[in-house]
Amino acid sequence: MEFFRWKSNPFTFDVIPEIFVGNIHEVNQILDSINNRNKLSFIVGTTGSGKTTLLRSIETRYGNDGFRHVIYISKPPKAAEDWVKVFGKIAGGGMFSVFSRREETSLYNLSDRMNRKLNGSKCLLLVDEAHEASLDSLEWLRVMSDQVGGIITVMAALPALESKLKDNLETFLRRVSTRVELTNLSKSETRELIKRRIENVGGDDIRPFTQDAIDAIYERTGGFPREILRTCNDSVQEAFRRGISTIDAEFLTENGKPAQKMPLESVRELPEKQRVLLETLQKRGEMTPSELIDSVCEPNPDGSKPAACDSLLESYKDNENAVRSVNNLLNRLMKERMVERRKSGKAFKYKVAPRVASLLVSA
Ligand SMILES: Nc1ncnc2c1ncn2[C@@H]1O[C@H](COP(=O)(O)OP(=O)(O)O)[C@@H](O)[C@H]1O
Ligand SMILES: [Mg+2]
Repeated sequence: MEFFRWKSNPFTFDVIPEIFVGNIHEVNQILDSINNRNKLSFIVGTTGSGKTTLLRSIETRYGNDGFRHVIYISKPPKAAEDWVKVFGKIAGGGMFSVFSRREETSLYNLSDRMNRKLNGSKCLLLVDEAHEASLDSLEWLRVMSDQVGGIITVMAALPALESKLKDNLETFLRRVSTRVELTNLSKSETRELIKRRIENVGGDDIRPFTQDAIDAIYERTGGFPREILRTCNDSVQEAFRRGISTIDAEFLTENGKPAQKMPLESVRELPEKQRVLLETLQKRGEMTPSELIDSVCEPNPDGSKPAACDSLLESYKDNENAVRSVNNLLNRLMKERMVERRKSGKAFKYKVAPRVASLLVSA
């Protein structure tokens, strides 16, 4: 990266806890939740939306003051027994010793020992990739968090975990007091991410990018963090190869890769409501938002209301609010270029974007 006089490549997928931009409202909600000593909070988002970065920045923030113990684990224990190891440093007594008659720490005395050792102080537990936990392991985490006063847990997971919990572990879900979803960055936040990454390696502002290049990057990526980094990395590499020192919008258009085929993964990882909308559009074809609601909520053959309808409309008092919320969800899907719309009379009609439609058919 000497060409740009950078210490290293600014656009790797490395997690840099000091550089977390955007999602201000979501971050504040989580911090409030921790400060209010809520026992269980939940960060959801697709791969590359910034969950690990956010957890790591929380770790740094509270590691220095506020909590006696801060534990970050990059994956939850597969087997419930492994919670003993996770808390071993606090609870102690994990090792068998010939000199000690003490009973070894196990899942069954762990809560008592933790309470004794914490003795009123707090432990912040940050669990990444929580969707990989077995139900058994999550159930023990719930028990621990019920029985040990000082444990405050923040979990990060793919949206799929929520439906899994809804179906299998309501007891757990009921204890989640705060839930935030990480979404795309705005245009100015996109600029900020690029600027801070560049300055972090000794560069100057957004150079070599021009402002209209930033606009083009935003258009292309919809403000999705991982895609912003990828696009910047590709263009910087290409500029380097060609000895070009300024990257403008034109450069990006010339070097734009053809629209990438979207991995099926990213459809599966959508939050439940967005996925329901996408699948309904796929099944039923082009619709306005209110037609879409009617379609999702069409009664089953036996007259009952579909579960998808309940979860879509759960918290909306009236139809107007419901339409507004569905509009928001559709906007997000548009940003991720999963749906397209066209004007039809006064309303917009939405349909599944071709590159996603082909995927859903083959799935
Ligand atoms: N809001 C953000 N601000 C700054 N960088 C971000 C943000 N979201 C994601 N990134 C960067 O994008 C990449 C993927 O983020 P990561 O935290 O690993 O996402 P996840 O854990 O959700 O898969 C990392 O390099 C990370 O630093
Ligand atoms: Mg992660």
